[in-house]
Amino acid sequence: MSNPDQKIRIAIFGGSGYGGSELLRILLFHPNAEIVLVTANEHASKPVAEVHRNLLGQTDLVFENSPADFSTLDNIELAFFALPHGQALNFIPRLSAYTKAIDLSGDFRLNDADIFEQFYKFAHTAAALQKEFVYGLTETNRDAIKTAKYIANPGCFATATLLALAPLVKSGLITGKIIVDAKTGSSGSGAKSAANTHHPQRMNSFYAYKPFMHQHVPEIEQHLGEIGEFQNELVFMTHSLPVSRGIFATCYLETTAQMTNEDLKNLYRHFYEDSFFIRLVDGSPDINWVKTTNFCDMAVHSNGSQVVVFSAVDNLVKGAAGQAVQNMNLMFGLDEKTGLIFTGSNP
Ligand SMILES: NC(=O)c1ccc[n+]([C@@H]2O[C@H](COP(=O)([O-])OP(=O)(O)OC[C@H]3O[C@@H](n4cnc5c(N)ncnc54)[C@H](OP(=O)(O)O)[C@@H]3O)[C@@H](O)[C@H]2O)c1
Repeated sequence: MSNPDQKIRIAIFGGSGYGGSELLRILLFHPNAEIVLVTANEHASKPVAEVHRNLLGQTDLVFENSPADFSTLDNIELAFFALPHGQALNFIPRLSAYTKAIDLSGDFRLNDADIFEQFYKFAHTAAALQKEFVYGLTETNRDAIKTAKYIANPGCFATATLLALAPLVKSGLITGKIIVDAKTGSSGSGAKSAANTHHPQRMNSFYAYKPFMHQHVPEIEQHLGEIGEFQNELVFMTHSLPVSRGIFATCYLETTAQMTNEDLKNLYRHFYEDSFFIRLVDGSPDINWVKTTNFCDMAVHSNGSQVVVFSAVDNLVKGAAGQAVQNMNLMFGLDEKTGLIFTGSNP
């Protein structure tokens, strides 16, 4: 972007959900963003600040229904999709050639339509378009993101896991099975409450779900194969934490050679030396220190050839809207940090 004051004309589909809420919180204050349309379904025609009360006094935008005629969107430069799985699949093929898109759902993340159907339980109807999508894990895919027209933004569990494993997979030092034990807060399942996300149920509970069948498994395996020579078996288990925001992933693996903590730390420092949003910490990361931010905090530990990597992200920011804006910045020639430098709170 040659003029630093230039604004990108943006539409947000699904602005009334949690992912949409975070897109609005970030983009309303982004120096190069102009939100010209924000859609909702049940919340259509309500003021944005009535639905997202954290934005009271910050915006006069009103939620609209998705337009029936997409030619009205021809002057939109970038459309974000924060809709349930299966919706962007119908919308993105209708955009004009001028409009770029970033999809927060799983609709365009997987290259293999059969695997997609196995995990998402419906057929992929835009396989040709899928090939035009770039996987938006910013730290491992910057060059492709810069020239992409369409971005498949990674899942929240996938973001925490891939960032934790990328340096070791790239180095080719992993032998045998990788086990990932990952936990999420309740906002991971969206703004609509269900029996198992209702506060009285959730506040004292801790449980595992979707053993072996979480839809982020194929996305993690696919992208690890793009990062390095990934042939290892991945065991990936997901759990629900009694907190609202945050993902914590613990990755267990073995290396082909003995590694000291310092060896490991140097490997990670080097891999992420140009990555502002990755912070290597001692001991353990804590979801408390990444909540509401675009940071991924991680720690590495070794015991000879046994290695454990911990990573923590906010599922709605680095795991969704924040990373989407980081990708937008790269797509439009901006510094990837633009509009994203905000710290969390203590506590
Ligand atoms: N939550 C996370 O931590 C997270 C992280 C990464 C990726 N994602 C992905 O991001 C996407 C959005 O997730 P979310 O948590 O923001 O979901 P959400 O809170 O349930 O919000 C869904 C949004 O989609 C709208 N919507 C629902 N059904 C629709 C339909 N039939 N047609 C048009 N709009 C419709 C909703 O509008 P109304 O509320 O007005 O009905 C709302 O704006 C999902 O694909 C999710 O997998 C979520």
